[in-house]
Amino acid sequence: MFNPKPTSKVVYLTIILIISLPFLINSTATEQDSEEIDDLLALDEEEQESSPKPSSEAEVLTKAQRIVVELNNDNTQKAIDGNEYVFVLGYAPWDVRSAELMPRFAEAASVLKELESDVLMGKVDAERYPKVASSLGVKGYPTLLLFVNGSSLPYTGGFSSEEIVTWVRKKTGTPVIRINSIDEANDFLKKHSMFAVGLFEKFEGPDYGEFVKAATTDNEVQFVETCTSQIADVLFPDVKSISPVLGLVKSEPERYTLYEDAFEKDKILQFLNDNKFPLVTFLTEVNSVKVYASDKLQVYVFAEADEFQKLLEPFQNAARKFKSKIMFVFVDIKDDNLAKPFLTLFGLEDSEDTLVTAFDYKTGAKYLLESDPTLANIEEFGLGLLKGILPPFYKSQAIPDNKGADIITVVGKTFDDLVLSNSKNILLEIHTPWCLNCETTTKQVEKLAKHFKGLENLVFAKIDASVNEHPKLEVEDYPTLLFYPASNKSNPIKLPTKSSSKDLAILINKYLKEQAHDEQHVTKDEL
Ligand SMILES: *[C@@H]1O[C@H](CO)[C@@H](O)[C@H](O)[C@H]1NC(C)=O
Ligand SMILES: *[C@@H]1O[C@H](CO)[C@@H](O)[C@H](O)[C@H]1NC(C)=O
Repeated sequence: MFNPKPTSKVVYLTIILIISLPFLINSTATEQDSEEIDDLLALDEEEQESSPKPSSEAEVLTKAQRIVVELNNDNTQKAIDGNEYVFVLGYAPWDVRSAELMPRFAEAASVLKELESDVLMGKVDAERYPKVASSLGVKGYPTLLLFVNGSSLPYTGGFSSEEIVTWVRKKTGTPVIRINSIDEANDFLKKHSMFAVGLFEKFEGPDYGEFVKAATTDNEVQFVETCTSQIADVLFPDVKSISPVLGLVKSEPERYTLYEDAFEKDKILQFLNDNKFPLVTFLTEVNSVKVYASDKLQVYVFAEADEFQKLLEPFQNAARKFKSKIMFVFVDIKDDNLAKPFLTLFGLEDSEDTLVTAFDYKTGAKYLLESDPTLANIEEFGLGLLKGILPPFYKSQAIPDNKGADIITVVGKTFDDLVLSNSKNILLEIHTPWCLNCETTTKQVEKLAKHFKGLENLVFAKIDASVNEHPKLEVEDYPTLLFYPASNKSNPIKLPTKSSSKDLAILINKYLKEQAHDEQHVTKDEL
């Protein structure tokens, strides 16, 4: 991660996703893999209905999984051609993320079936049926694709079963659930924690049209509609105006948010985008993709869960102030999968103390709050982030004692003083603990340091790039050898690391001579 250039969001996300893959292989999913459902018509509903009541969660899943058709060489084309909507999961049996998604996909299939959805749910084992997978456009694992009259649509929803159901319904012609009675409303409340509710006099007209368009375009919020204010009152209490009314309901602490703008699709979508996350989002494996995909500035708090309870209020208050501009995220510092990849970016992976950090994914900059996380300090931090005036964070080890060293150790904090502002020529070795050829180069540099020992105007130095960063140090390969001419520190010369020590010594001599020559010039000119 030693790349002080603006690190793109993609790089962060790749690292974070790779490191944070949950290694939970669900046994039900693997059992299911060996189960054969060859024929499309093997979906025998009668058989399912007459089977005994499932007694455990595992059985419920296995039963739900039978609603998912296994696509193979024989049935795939028929399935895609013969159905208006086919929702396909492409997976590989050995892939942990596939294994994790499968039971959720199966649960979604079971809920969709209950809701009498027209979608055929299918899965394809891409290892066993590579041709089928590639013909469907499955390129990685897991892949979710919705086929609408044979054309595929990439999946853009969340990864809990509830989110899968919501998304599929949105894209298959039932973007809004109509609630017809108070009982239905209460039932709905038991199953959904976040939704948008619309109250209309009639389910027609331009306002209603925009509401439905927003419901279809949005990818994760379930929309419901009613034309009775008593029903609306159950879902969104104290609805005062007659109609139309639109409100967003989500979990604590700001459960109800009333929409107060004109009924236009884009404005409604913007309203959802600004308000759908809680004031402080608790990062989990399930919501992480959604959180990383947010285009807002982000402040992350890393703390132990107990500790965070004390901080929750100041953070909620700060979050209220920056609502719609900055997203506040809490990460349990004990959750290695989620916390470590971030903490590593700050060189603080072993920290157990509460940390407050921020990211601007547009510039790739990262920031660390260096004072106590009080409300005032958090607000100042947020304001600085918003204005783009926070000093970016660069990793650095503690300043080492270089007394008597032939090769001085440079860290992020001393790079300016020891390299850039130093009046001498510097030969800097940039290494990391994991790089393959670093050891050879380190030995060469040690030899060279001995060889040139006593030379007043040349300093040998090294820096561990895995734990030290500096905005002026842009290196992509390790090891790298840089010669910083005394007269021109902003233009270091790269030395070949594959050369022999002798060739390196010759090169260094040449650069030193050029410098001496330059200096003579200067001296002559001055005389
Ligand atoms: C799919 O095709 C059928 C038959 O042509 C058509 O009636 C239907 O509207 C199409 N569905 C979508 C979502 O375009
Ligand atoms: C510094 O080095 C660069 C690139 O080698 C060169 O173009 C520039 O003229 C040098 N500047 C001075 C002051 O020597």
